[in-house]
Amino acid sequence: MIKMKADLNLMGMERGRQYETIITTKNADGSKNAAPIGVICAGEDKVITRIFKGSHTLDNMVREKEFIVNITHDPELYTVSLLGNLPQEYFNDDYSLKCVDAYFKCETINFTEAVKQSDPIKKKEEAIVIKSEVRDMVIRKEIKAMNRGFGYVIESLANLTRFDLVGDAQKEIYITRFKEANRVVLKVGRKEDIKAMHEIKKELIKRGYDL
Ligand SMILES: Cc1cc2nc3c(=O)[nH]c(=O)nc-3n(C[C@H](O)[C@H](O)[C@H](O)COP(=O)(O)O)c2cc1C
Repeated sequence: MIKMKADLNLMGMERGRQYETIITTKNADGSKNAAPIGVICAGEDKVITRIFKGSHTLDNMVREKEFIVNITHDPELYTVSLLGNLPQEYFNDDYSLKCVDAYFKCETINFTEAVKQSDPIKKKEEAIVIKSEVRDMVIRKEIKAMNRGFGYVIESLANLTRFDLVGDAQKEIYITRFKEANRVVLKVGRKEDIKAMHEIKKELIKRGYDL
């Protein structure tokens, strides 16, 4: 286990990009809470989260002024922590998760009402943007933080290979999916993913599809 100075680059996090993580926090009764939350890298030792009001995670961050960002690619952890409560035995005493490869502790700097939003959720006044400073960082095993962009690139490429084999109705579905994939990659993807989506878009336009 390596405990080190905060540097998000060590987890493959690039400034301005969003990564999927599991944030763990302390509930009012002292028990431990986990939820999947997107974390934007805002520099070597700063992160930004946008969290909807009503979640335990936001309440806990406001009260405790600190939280843990767990870096993992384990689908079960994301699913169980979203659909139910992750059992308390999954947690360490410091509120991090036992089975993750890396995690870091954050201390909140400020909380701001969200004003701008580019995703399809309309209730923009119901989110809070939290800027935080990264403190202790623990890397048990080298890992890159999870970014949603690459999955969309692969999915868009797979659909591209099927375009000429399907009927018009299915083509429409693929175009709609591509537009959504492109929207997400432009918002959260790494520059390599954005470049790939640009190439796929060019190819679709070349084949006569309206984008
Ligand atoms: C991959 C993923 C990313 C998510 N990112 C966010 C986010 O950035 N902000 C947010 O408010 N909710 C996000 N959610 C939804 C929360 O995890 C969900 O509302 C959860 O139920 C909150 O749990 P809590 O009440 O224990 O905090 C995300 C869900 C998933 C699956």
